Amino acid sequence: MRVLVIGSGGREHALCRSLKLDPQVGELHCAPGNPGIEEVARLHAVDPLDPEEVAALARRLEVDLVVVGPEAPLVAGVADAVREAGIACFGPSGQAAMIEGSKAFAKEVMRAAGVPTAEARVCRTPEQAAAALAEFGAPYVVKDDGLAAGKGVVVTDDRETALAHAAACEQVVVEEFLDGPEVSLFALCDGSTAVPLQPAQDFKRAYDGDRGPNTGGMGAYTPLPWAPEGLTEQVMREIVHPTIGELSRRGLPFQGVLFVGLALTSKGPKVIEFNARFGDPETQVLLDRLETPLGGLLMACATGELGPDPVFGGGSAVTVVIAAENYPDSPVKGDVISGLDSTANAYVIHAGTARSDGEIVSAGGRVLSVVGNGPDQESARRNAYELVSRIQLRGSFYRTDIAP
Ligand code: AMP
Ligand code: GLY
Repeated sequence: MRVLVIGSGGREHALCRSLKLDPQVGELHCAPGNPGIEEVARLHAVDPLDPEEVAALARRLEVDLVVVGPEAPLVAGVADAVREAGIACFGPSGQAAMIEGSKAFAKEVMRAAGVPTAEARVCRTPEQAAAALAEFGAPYVVKDDGLAAGKGVVVTDDRETALAHAAACEQVVVEEFLDGPEVSLFALCDGSTAVPLQPAQDFKRAYDGDRGPNTGGMGAYTPLPWAPEGLTEQVMREIVHPTIGELSRRGLPFQGVLFVGLALTSKGPKVIEFNARFGDPETQVLLDRLETPLGGLLMACATGELGPDPVFGGGSAVTVVIAAENYPDSPVKGDVISGLDSTANAYVIHAGTARSDGEIVSAGGRVLSVVGNGPDQESARRNAYELVSRIQLRGSFYRTDIAP
C-alpha cells in the first residue's frame, strides 16, 4: 500500500520509521516532513492546516492511506477532507478531535459517559475563576480551554499565578488536583471498537526532578514495570470504550488514536486529559517495541476493521529529548548538530531539525529524541544516554533522570 503521513515532528519520524519496516507498505510519503524523515520517505511541501491542499496531495500521489500526526490539522478538518476525497484516513474528524481541541467538550463527554476524571468548572470571568479556585483549593489547576501545544496548563500553589493564567485566557477549565503517578495509554480506534497499546510514561517538566516549566515532553519509556496488574483492561473498560461509545452516539465516530493521559489516584485511574493523536515522545518508545506491522494496523483503524490487540516485544525502550537552548520559552534555532549516527541499540529521531548548507541544524524547541532499547529498562536507558552523550548541539540540554 501507499501511505502519506502528515506532519514534521518526532512523532511523524517515528511513525514513518515503523511504516517503512512494514512489508505491506510499498511507498511512503510525508508532508512536510523533516531531514530525518527524508531518510525513509519522500517529502512533499504542503500546508498541513489546509484540508483541501492535503486531500489534493493525497489524490495526486494516489495513496491508499493518509495518517495525520498532529492535533492542529485534525481540528482543522484534514481527516474529513481526505475521507471526502474517498481515501482512507487514520485520524478523527474535526468534530471528534474536539475531545482534544476543547477541554470543556472533553469534560462534557466524560460526564455523559460516566468516565472518572477531575471535578471541573468552566470559567469565562475572573469572578468565576476565583470561585472555582476557592471551591477546589490548592494546588490549583487552571487549563486554557483551547489547543495550547501542551503548554496551556498551570499547576500552582500560588493563587495569584492561577488567577493570572485564567485572566490571560478567554475560557479556562479550573479543576480538582489529581494526586498520583501519571501514565499515558493510547488506544487505536476504528470508529466502533478500540485496542490498546501498552502503557508508557512521559516526563513533562523541563528539568531534572520534575522541576521547571511544563513542556511537550522531555522523555518517555515503556513498558512500566510498576503499573498495577490489569491497568490496561481497566482503562479500556472504564474509560476508552465508554468515551468512544459516547462519541459514536453523538454521531462522531472516532477513527484514530485516543490518547488517555491518566493519574493513578488512590481512587483508581482518572483522566487528566484526552488527545486525539499519538503522544510525543511516548510514540517513539511504543513503536520501538511494537511488533504488529504498523501500516496494516493503521489501515484497519481507517477502514473499521480492527482485529486483535497489537503485540509488543519484550524488553524496554527509553527516549531522551534533546531540547534547544531556552526551550520552552524562546528556543534558539539554526545551530549545527553533529554526532547523529545510530549505535547498535540506539538511534536518533528528528523533531525540530532542518537542512542548511548540507548540514543538519536545529529548527525547533524539541530538536531530537534519542531512542535506546534493550532487554530491560536499565540497559535501554544506558543505550539511550550513551548516544545522547555523542550528540553535539551548542546550548542544548536534556534531562538526566528519564526512566529512573
Ligand atoms: P495537560 O496538558 O492537561 O496534560 O496537563 C499538563 C500537565 O499538568 C499534566 O501532565 C499534569 O502533570 C498536570 N495536570 C493537569 N491536570 C491536572 C490535575 N487535575 N491534577 C494534577 N495535575 C494535573
Ligand atoms: N507527550 C505528551 C503529548 O504528546 O502531549
